[in-house]
Amino acid sequence: MDGDGRDSGQGERQGRSDRDQAVAALRAGGLVILPTETVYGLAADAADPKAVAAIFEAKGRPRFNPLIAHVADLATAEKIAVFDDRARKLAEAFWPGPMTLVLPIRDASAVCDLARAGLETVAIRVPGHEGARDMLAAFGGPVVAPSANRSGRPSPTTYEDAIGETGSSAGAALDGGPCQVGLESTVVSVLDGAPRLLRPGAVTRAQIEALIGPLAEAADDAKRSPGRLAVHYAPDAPVRINAEAAGEGEAYLAFGPHAGGERVFNLSPSGDLAEAAANLFAFLRAADRTKPSAIAVAAIPDEGLGEAINDRLRRAAGFVG
Ligand code: TXA
Ligand code: MG
Repeated sequence: MDGDGRDSGQGERQGRSDRDQAVAALRAGGLVILPTETVYGLAADAADPKAVAAIFEAKGRPRFNPLIAHVADLATAEKIAVFDDRARKLAEAFWPGPMTLVLPIRDASAVCDLARAGLETVAIRVPGHEGARDMLAAFGGPVVAPSANRSGRPSPTTYEDAIGETGSSAGAALDGGPCQVGLESTVVSVLDGAPRLLRPGAVTRAQIEALIGPLAEAADDAKRSPGRLAVHYAPDAPVRINAEAAGEGEAYLAFGPHAGGERVFNLSPSGDLAEAAANLFAFLRAADRTKPSAIAVAAIPDEGLGEAINDRLRRAAGFVG
């Protein structure tokens, strides 16, 4: 795995007729299970308020939480949102790939009010997954796609998990194989003043700061990025973080060398953060299926991609990140 979410032969499980069916479903106002390099999405035509309402319904998602618009390329994104020099630099460096920009809206009819939760800004990204971009290019316009989980649950990182979460609400589904990154995209707002990191992800803080300078602190950004509620990404079992070992009845997510054992899932035996990120949500689900009293998780170093992994783990454990 290359870990940066760019193309490397993804999408081979997806044929042209599948893509055409997905586009037809979107045009008819239906929902589509959409693979991306980060996590699977539940997609709809961004300009169609009824279709967008169906997403909120299928996920049980609060309507004040706005959605990300996905487009095939930067040229399409520039028609929808306002890019300043910093936003353009980020887009040119990291698109296609696992980064979302929150920008002033330019064409409010392209991404309906409901999708933006009434805000004058829009979250937008060009996904790294080739099959996703192929469908977006064929559709032409922006497609909103939150993660395909029911609200508050871990994001699906395999086709099977996506179908299990919200597949029954979809008119078409694309199988793009397992997601290479495994964590939702980095969200950066580039509005007035210093840019803010609203959600850490595979494009790291250090990579962004190297390009556009220091990011403002975003600790209070639950209001700005309403998706960042405290309890999120949570399996059924309680999650206990920074655990050195599993207690009685607990499952354990290890990181680095570990003897293994019953109910032990090793996120990365070699201690590789990209591998751990790609495995995180699938292993939380697998651990949950053993019906443990809790899921204990080893400490993960807080550098690079570790910031995003620890953000999701703190939320799964019920702490604000
Ligand atoms: O990797 C991803 O981003 C995946 C795949 C499917 O693309 N999508 C995803 O969408 O994670 P979702 O809806 O689960 O997360 C979107 C996040 C939420 O935290 C939401 O609050 C934030 O982006 N967001 C969307 N529009 C925003 C806006 N205008 N201002 C601030 N935050 C916004
Ligand atoms: Mg989500």
